Amino acid sequence: MKLICGDLLDKTAIDSCLTQEPFDAVMHFSALSIINDSINHPIKYYENNVTGTFNLLDTMARHGVQKFVFSSTAAVYGSPNTTTILEETAVNPTTPYGASKWMVERMLKDFEIAHNIRSVAFRYFNADGADQSGEIVENHDPETHLIPNILNSLSGKTNKKLSLFGNDYPTPDGTCIRDYIHVNDICKAHLSALDYLQNNEHSDCFNIGNGTGFSVLEVITAVEKVTVKKVEYNIQGRREGDPAILVANSDKLKQKLNWRPEFTELEQIIETAWRYHSR
Ligand SMILES: NC(=O)c1ccc[n+]([C@@H]2O[C@H](COP(=O)([O-])OP(=O)(O)OC[C@H]3O[C@@H](n4cnc5c(N)ncnc54)[C@H](O)[C@@H]3O)[C@@H](O)[C@H]2O)c1
Repeated sequence: MKLICGDLLDKTAIDSCLTQEPFDAVMHFSALSIINDSINHPIKYYENNVTGTFNLLDTMARHGVQKFVFSSTAAVYGSPNTTTILEETAVNPTTPYGASKWMVERMLKDFEIAHNIRSVAFRYFNADGADQSGEIVENHDPETHLIPNILNSLSGKTNKKLSLFGNDYPTPDGTCIRDYIHVNDICKAHLSALDYLQNNEHSDCFNIGNGTGFSVLEVITAVEKVTVKKVEYNIQGRREGDPAILVANSDKLKQKLNWRPEFTELEQIIETAWRYHSR
């Protein structure tokens, strides 16, 4: 396997990459993805996520690469009025990050018609956990995701106390509810997408989630159980762009791509993440 590094805003770099050898498919994971940052810096997000992906698709079209797997997001749904989200649920992104991903999904329809680039767009819910190798893990700097932030506060990797953003949401305990999906299960879905694109004529989009929602306080309780440590936190105001509840219905992915998540219990997901974060 060869690693070639480049910026998607540099079309020449993409062109030189796709010139090196024939490619069967492109899986596109890169993006700027900090929701709050996108609200303050929309230009950066539209340029990077939309123009960057446009450059990639344009170059693929010119090189005849016709299979594309795209990391979209639950943020395309915005703040839906339903507790379990289907792919048919109205798309209504409320942040530049979500909008940038939706713009790409929209663009994919036109590239399919004009250039026969068939695609699978995966709308990830909250990616979490770690692969045993420690190479695939939910871990960012700066970190904005809940589980790694809780675990970092316990492992001493940060001396900042955990911030809990908002306890006045319309949920049973007042904290946000999210659907957590293991990184390995996301990887498995991507491999199934390649088979799907090999054997099917049409593009499609799929939610990836476990179908169960956990509030921030429930996640903290689960972390305390797994780690046998007390989580200390400060309650702060709501974070801009955070909807109250996001839970996926992933039946379409199960039916059409024969995908089954391996990590269906929140504590299983936290255990794998803790193995990584505590080492
Ligand atoms: N982590 C989640 O919970 C989650 C949820 C929904 C969707 N997603 C999407 O999944 C994908 C992967 O997420 P992640 O958490 O691994 O993100 P990440 O921030 O860890 O990784 C994204 C990578 O993209 C690279 N990148 C950004 N702009 C680039 C450019 N112009 N050219 C080349 N590289 C560029 C960054 O350097 C980084 O290495 C992203 O597209 C994200 O929007 C993630």
